[in-house]
Amino acid sequence: MSDSEQLLRDIAGAGDLAALEKLRVAALGKSGTITAQLKSLGSMDAEERAAHGPKIHALREAVTAAIAERKAALEAAELDRRLATEKLDLSLPAAQAPQGTVHPVSQVMDELAEIFADLGFAVAEGPEIEDQWYNFTALNMPEAHPARAMHDTFYCEPRDGESEPRVLRTHTSPVQIRAMQNQGAPLRIIAPGRVYRSDSDATHTPMFHQIEGLVVDRAIHLGHLRWTLETFLKAFFERDDVAIRMIPSYFPFTEPSADVHVGWSWEGGRRVIGGSENWMEVLGSGMVHPRVLANAGLDPDEWQGFAFGTGVDRLAMLKYGMSDLRAFFDADLRWLKHYGFRALAVPTLSGGVGA
Ligand code: PHE
Repeated sequence: MSDSEQLLRDIAGAGDLAALEKLRVAALGKSGTITAQLKSLGSMDAEERAAHGPKIHALREAVTAAIAERKAALEAAELDRRLATEKLDLSLPAAQAPQGTVHPVSQVMDELAEIFADLGFAVAEGPEIEDQWYNFTALNMPEAHPARAMHDTFYCEPRDGESEPRVLRTHTSPVQIRAMQNQGAPLRIIAPGRVYRSDSDATHTPMFHQIEGLVVDRAIHLGHLRWTLETFLKAFFERDDVAIRMIPSYFPFTEPSADVHVGWSWEGGRRVIGGSENWMEVLGSGMVHPRVLANAGLDPDEWQGFAFGTGVDRLAMLKYGMSDLRAFFDADLRWLKHYGFRALAVPTLSGGVGA
């Protein structure tokens, strides 16, 4: 058997990729046998070269092809071996698989989005680092307005060329302005999101969540506001006996303004929403101040609106019975396991929002 026949046989019989690579280097590498033959062509005269050249080139091609073929075969065998050994048992019960749970804040935001989507509200967003103009001025709180001091505001380091430093938004109300500017009227939006105030105890954390609601249209009045809030609270607390009271209040960006109180009672030693034995405040609301409409570029003679805002974390506490707000942000797995929601139980109006 010639050397080249032996080489092709060795290649076809190489037991693994490493052995095959060794054969390749021995034949085609820098100082391989075939490489040496190719080099020898250079010192031959034309006649010799014409005789040997084609043979040597043909050999190199045959060896290259044989190596590629063996390599493919070895790789296919390796894949078969892995497919046979690395099995995934898809028949394992799925109930054991999901480990994480949905945080109550996310759950309640999903519930709110579901309820308000059914009433024709779209979700709007704005930045958490906000211009003072959006957070205060456009909302009818000019500089030195005492209402600015009501919010314990976090101010950012001023940046070069900035006339006034930006703030961490103290409420979701600036999204009212952005939504009116971007979308014009008529308008129906909710704006859930994070807000920041320098405050911390059992019922206050420096970051918490609010949801804003805004409706702008022609001939909008307080009756629309009241119906919307009553409908929302009944759907959210999943009870028909939810009663509300609207108490005159003050917000610079609404006129008139009302705090919304909801009735609650004791049931089995727990405070539950429903009935009218006791009252607690759950929302701020009012008719959008004409100056706010104008600041956002709308003509207050043509458009009216109502707005409301409330704390998402507080709604979650009221509905699901947590007592300490700080635990929401402790990332304690035991708390999350206890109060978290199954990831696949998505809130729907037909199936129950708080399933
Ligand atoms: N932005 C107010 C707050 O944070 C709530 C509010 C929103 C009141 C919209 C009226 C209308 O307290």
